[in-house]
Amino acid sequence: MRIDIITVLPKLLDGPFSESIMKRAQTKGLAEINVHNLRDYSTNKHKNVDDAQYGGGAGMVMSIEPIVACIEALKEKTAYDEIIFMTPDGEVLNQAMSNTLSLSKNLLILCGHYKGIDERIREHFITREISIGSYVLSGGELAAAVLTDSIVRLIPGVLNDETSALSDSFQDNLLSPPVYTRPSEFRGWKVPDILLSGNFNDIDNWRMDKAIERTKERRPDLLDSDS
Ligand code: 6GU
Repeated sequence: MRIDIITVLPKLLDGPFSESIMKRAQTKGLAEINVHNLRDYSTNKHKNVDDAQYGGGAGMVMSIEPIVACIEALKEKTAYDEIIFMTPDGEVLNQAMSNTLSLSKNLLILCGHYKGIDERIREHFITREISIGSYVLSGGELAAAVLTDSIVRLIPGVLNDETSALSDSFQDNLLSPPVYTRPSEFRGWKVPDILLSGNFNDIDNWRMDKAIERTKERRPDLLDSDS
């Protein structure tokens, strides 16, 4: 899969993709993540990418020209399944959306900034608008990193058996059960006997019960939704 990300702050995206699973996905050739600096597509001499909004009001708006120049340059080389705009007023990301997006060949992600982007970009180029939750971030970069991570880890071959995405929280609309490792007793705090029993059928049932119990307690909304 190829993921292109357009941003005014490329350095913000250096870290998240250069460690651990995201790094391995790229080294193995399973994901190619390219970060594009929007300023490189600005044609004015100060390399501005924003301007005051029509109608007045505080806050700058990302201009249409550099974004369109960047999107069109990228579209010449790549056919995108989706052109995604990261924005707090988008559809809130969930596992089902990540699952679907992980089947894409090519994705283009635009990070919003300032007061937002010129609405005409949304009307004419964006195919999908995604938020990562009901709170405001300073820009779309961290949200784009979250979205990219949630997608890339689902590409076949990225995770091994031990980290298999199938047992993730949310993959079956359930939170994960509690987990333990050695020692079996620490300061008198014991690991549940059943996990030491060697009876894998009972262990599976226990884990399922705990997953359901935890989900009922913490995220009852997951049990009666398809998200
Ligand atoms: Cl995608 N962008 C910004 N700026 N804030 C957010 C968000 C996105 N999702 C949640 N909050």
